[in-house]
Amino acid sequence: MPVTADIINAITHHHTELQDALTTRVGAVVTAARTNGSCDDPVAELRGLLAHDIVPHARAEEDVLYAAATADTLRPLVAGMIFEHETLLGLADRLAAVTTAVDAAATAYAIEAVFIGHVRRENELLLPALAADPDVDLPALLPVMEQRFATYQAAAA
Ligand SMILES: [Fe+2]
Ligand SMILES: [Fe+2]
Repeated sequence: MPVTADIINAITHHHTELQDALTTRVGAVVTAARTNGSCDDPVAELRGLLAHDIVPHARAEEDVLYAAATADTLRPLVAGMIFEHETLLGLADRLAAVTTAVDAAATAYAIEAVFIGHVRRENELLLPALAADPDVDLPALLPVMEQRFATYQAAAA
């Protein structure tokens, strides 16, 4: 039977995995742009991470975690986090359209910067607030969120 700490650990661990993978791939784009003046392969890898992991994660948490944050005090925070998802999606679209290495590197770095700030808000502001809300059953949300994530991942494959 999962408890609140389990879902917080599961989500923060997944955030760490996504952030580490993102940092590695963005670093590869920036390094390739700097040294080769071309970065098509690392951009393709970064786009794959966004499409198969980061976007499905964002969709799943909007469906499950953000949907559970119905307290009036949480609404502005959740609205701002949805804005950040939109920013990330916009940057992912821009990455798909860039035609020069410098634009790819700049866009990749912007994605990393937005993602790091966003994850920190989720870990340090949203999750503790949800854990403290007696109307939210966080442990029950974990399997639902994992199932949604798998569904969105399969749709992106
Ligand atoms: Fe998010
Ligand atoms: Fe997240």
